[in-house]
Amino acid sequence: MHRLEEIWLALSGGILVIFMVIVGYQGFALGMNPPSNMETIDPQKVDELEPFDEPGVYKRGENEYEVVMTLQAFSFNPGDIEIPAGAEVTFTMTSKDVTHGFQVAGTNINAMVMPGRIQKITHTFNEPGNYLVLCNEYCGTGHQLMSTEITVK
Ligand code: CUA
Repeated sequence: MHRLEEIWLALSGGILVIFMVIVGYQGFALGMNPPSNMETIDPQKVDELEPFDEPGVYKRGENEYEVVMTLQAFSFNPGDIEIPAGAEVTFTMTSKDVTHGFQVAGTNINAMVMPGRIQKITHTFNEPGNYLVLCNEYCGTGHQLMSTEITVK
């Protein structure tokens, strides 16, 4: 093999190893892993388990709200949500059947909500208005009907 080829091979191989060591160190030693979806739940018992036994909008503090939501074919529960402008809202969600999507038009909220997993996403709604909520994961024959609205005022 040509000497230059050997150098190139060694260099590119070395770079690969360095990257893998960095990513491995971040993942295993520093615990830097993708967030969320760590909490699990029995999808058959969502209705009986806290907090999903009582879906709704809850005030959790000064200007802080939590929306406890179940997703099922083909609806969001609670349906129509009202939130004051400027409030920080945490959506705590799970699916009762298949994988659904939770996308709020006009924001960067876009989550996949899977059965057996608890999905959390926090957002501050500064602009008053009506926000369209869509399921963006194909979930069955009624998928295109699965939508609701968040009212911020
Ligand atoms: Cu739920 Cu598509």
